[in-house]
Amino acid sequence: MHRGLTIAVSKGRIFKEALPLLAEAGVVLRDDPERSRKLILDTGEPDVKLVIIRATDVPTYVEYGAADLGIAGKDVLMEHGGGGLYEPLDLGISRCRLMVASRPDADLALPRLRVATKYVRSARRHFADRGQQVELIKLYGSMELAPLVGLADCIVDLVDTGNTLKANGLVPRVPIADISSRLVVNKASLKIKHRRILEFMSRLEAAVAGRADDARRAGTD
Ligand code: ATP
Ligand code: PRP
Repeated sequence: MHRGLTIAVSKGRIFKEALPLLAEAGVVLRDDPERSRKLILDTGEPDVKLVIIRATDVPTYVEYGAADLGIAGKDVLMEHGGGGLYEPLDLGISRCRLMVASRPDADLALPRLRVATKYVRSARRHFADRGQQVELIKLYGSMELAPLVGLADCIVDLVDTGNTLKANGLVPRVPIADISSRLVVNKASLKIKHRRILEFMSRLEAAVAGRADDARRAGTD
């Protein structure tokens, strides 16, 4: 195991929002992630590295200890299944909601409702909790297309502004979960690199709390 700290982050949406937060916690990138094709990025601290991976792979890297820490969406963590990881901190970034959505006139009480989603586990649990039998259709993206071409009666997908649903003539129907990005920690790393990880976590926690204070102040101004 690398003696320093390895932090797993995905490119794209989370990366853009996580970088400033990491910088506030003292982890500043030396490589330019926009230009570099490198998958291991150096930071201002010689023993702290960022590894750049697919969003859905973050829990796997951290669970196996290939990264000590990671930043992942709650949606991804719910699909991965907990237990193998600590999830000590809600970073409050990349906020959205996991929703059931459909055409406005779709009957969601249909027997054997066809549900298209990337979030099979969360969708299965949602409908099972309601005692509803559904047929789950696994997709890897562009879920909004499925009800339009008759592949499914509804979808389970992330909704933020609602623009994607609206552009495709769909409406949000049932909220499933509030989503934001979380810090995850490998269990063995936390034991072995206890002091180092707690120190990093408290800096990150202070950065998150500072933002919450700023947001509260902006709301009361
Ligand atoms: P990949 O490109 O590797 O397949 P992805 O397309 O899911 O993964 P992103 O779109 O960057 O990757 O999303 C990463 C995470 O950002 C999601 O897991 C979720 O937590 C969050 N997210 C996704 N869509 C939104 C959104 N519209 N608004 C806010 N957060 C979002
Ligand atoms: C996400 C999600 C929705 C969209 C919702 O997709 O899968 O399609 O954002 O956001 P909105 O409510 O603000 O429109 P993303 O933009 O990440 O594209 P992707 O599915 O190709 O990753």
